[in-house]
Amino acid sequence: MTLEKAARAVRENAYAPYSRYKVGAAIRTVSGKVFSGCNVENAAYPEGTCAEAGAIAAMVAAGEIEIAEVFVIADAHMPVPPCGGCRQKIAEFAKGDVPVVMATVAGRRSETTVADLLPGAFGREHMDGD
Ligand code: THU
Repeated sequence: MTLEKAARAVRENAYAPYSRYKVGAAIRTVSGKVFSGCNVENAAYPEGTCAEAGAIAAMVAAGEIEIAEVFVIADAHMPVPPCGGCRQKIAEFAKGDVPVVMATVAGRRSETTVADLLPGAFGREHMDGD
């Protein structure tokens, strides 16, 4: 399955009654497997989770931790960029040159990389003792 197809399909299941902004995300890992997730909102707004977080949780639950490509889609005028928190979540499992494709349901897309989305990212290497 292509990442776009997976992201489009999972977006249909997004639970977004408050924002009405349904998002789908799909990840391909280095092993070639695809994991997807959608946003899940909550009446207690801060408890909602992003599509990217759902896809990452599915990936880790399946025993995979190395992302090769990310695809995010929403029904909007502009391609949907991952929020700041999701940039950090993606960076935990992806090298800087990993492509992130952002798309709209209507077919607009733009592409960037993990490093461009989160320059100077805090990572595990900063926690090493000196
Ligand atoms: N959202 C995502 O799921 N991913 C993004 O990259 C941007 C924002 C969700 C969170 C919330 O449910 C809705 O979109 C509006 O912010």
